[in-house]
Amino acid sequence: MELSLELRVAREAAFEAGKILTRLFGQLKEVRMKDEMELITEADIQTEQKILDIIRRQFPEDSFLTEETGAHRRRPERVWIIDPLDGTTNFAHGFPFFATSIGLELDGEMVLGIVYNPHMAEHFEAAKGMGAFLNGNPITVSQTKTLQESLLGFGFPYTIQKKPEEAMHHLAKMIVHPQGVRRPGTAAVDLCYVAAGIFDGFWEEGLMPWDTAAGTVIVREAGGMLSTYQGAPYTPRSQTILASNGIIHEAMLEVLNG
Ligand code: IPD
Ligand code: CA
Ligand code: CA
Repeated sequence: MELSLELRVAREAAFEAGKILTRLFGQLKEVRMKDEMELITEADIQTEQKILDIIRRQFPEDSFLTEETGAHRRRPERVWIIDPLDGTTNFAHGFPFFATSIGLELDGEMVLGIVYNPHMAEHFEAAKGMGAFLNGNPITVSQTKTLQESLLGFGFPYTIQKKPEEAMHHLAKMIVHPQGVRRPGTAAVDLCYVAAGIFDGFWEEGLMPWDTAAGTVIVREAGGMLSTYQGAPYTPRSQTILASNGIIHEAMLEVLNG
């Protein structure tokens, strides 16, 4: 699949968004509540606008699904799925885990993903059939054999305060098995850390398509496995996500469903 132009444009959009994030990190003037739990800042708005401008300039007929401005429907077979700033709460508090996430879905299949954290200088990228890369170097998932030897990532949905039971139940089940469990606060990067073999697995419920779209391509191309908590094939529109190195996938499914 020839995606070099798409990759070049998505890369430029991510790097330009990264410049905005770098300029605004620690310098935010406006942090508002989007709803009871979720923040929105000028960084979310400015990065989304910049990314849309860059990709639209090259692909004016393509469709977009973005966190801040929703669905822009044109050609249905080409959809860019974008989270301009994944980890807004971290960003607003000066916690340096955040990223721009840009994915491309062609005919219903995710084929390209870029996740870029400018603060950590981590640029993850993958395209279908071409492998996954961190700053240009190939990455693969870990070879960790057991849940007991694993480091896992997870996340909570913003609805946790109103409806904590299910997510807490899954956390309580999982936390007693691995060497460690971490909650970095950016699902896009969590998935890339599975792809890079830093995390051996990751689970979360209630994510939106833009949180995971790019990351799923990067996990798959790094040799990882994705499913729902029920073990069904994962798409960015699924309600639950389990990502792993493949080896510990079944063990994680058993714990989540036990
Ligand atoms: C959030 C992050 C976080 C996850 C939340 C997401 P945002 O995205 O990915 O890790 O736990 O569920 O909504 O709001 O910072 O773009
Ligand atoms: Ca997000
Ligand atoms: Ca976001």
